[in-house]
Amino acid sequence: MTTLALIGLPGAGKSTVGRQLARRLQVPFVDSDAVIEDRIGCTIREFFEREGEEAFRDLEEAVLDELTQGPPCVLSTGGGAVLRPLNRQRLRARGRVFYLRSTPEELYRRLRHDRTRPLLQVADPLQRLRDLYAVRDPLYRETAHYVIETGRPTVATLVNMILMQL
Ligand code: S3P
Repeated sequence: MTTLALIGLPGAGKSTVGRQLARRLQVPFVDSDAVIEDRIGCTIREFFEREGEEAFRDLEEAVLDELTQGPPCVLSTGGGAVLRPLNRQRLRARGRVFYLRSTPEELYRRLRHDRTRPLLQVADPLQRLRDLYAVRDPLYRETAHYVIETGRPTVATLVNMILMQL
């Protein structure tokens, strides 16, 4: 088996779906954001505030480079992973990539009380999600081997949809 990477905007379900998918496949589940937090010893939100977004992207690129060369796993990536061309290239070349697509409105419904996502701590998070979607949806599509529509199905159904593509 090769590494299965999940990409998509914050709130798309990458960690939830990823955990169940890994359990079904009996491979490790790895969350790149959790690996980064382990290394920096604080939350990503704190790191963003202290060091800025570019420092976070550098770290994210290094961690994704390592993880995509490690043992096969289900890899949940941060929503901004596709912003760097090298990440897009590596994710696509080193595994199978699934884009969990949701509309900004659906993501907003799921995340409106979330305080952990630095990019959404703004006056109008829905507009921010719409802006992020406009920039990133083409990048997710370019990186992914498969697009999984997350609107209605349950997590178990989404996992089955991914398993059917393998
Ligand atoms: C980010 C998404 C976050 C995290 C960081 C930046 C983004 O991950 O990597 O806060 O740019 O969309 P999730 O997609 O798991 O929220």
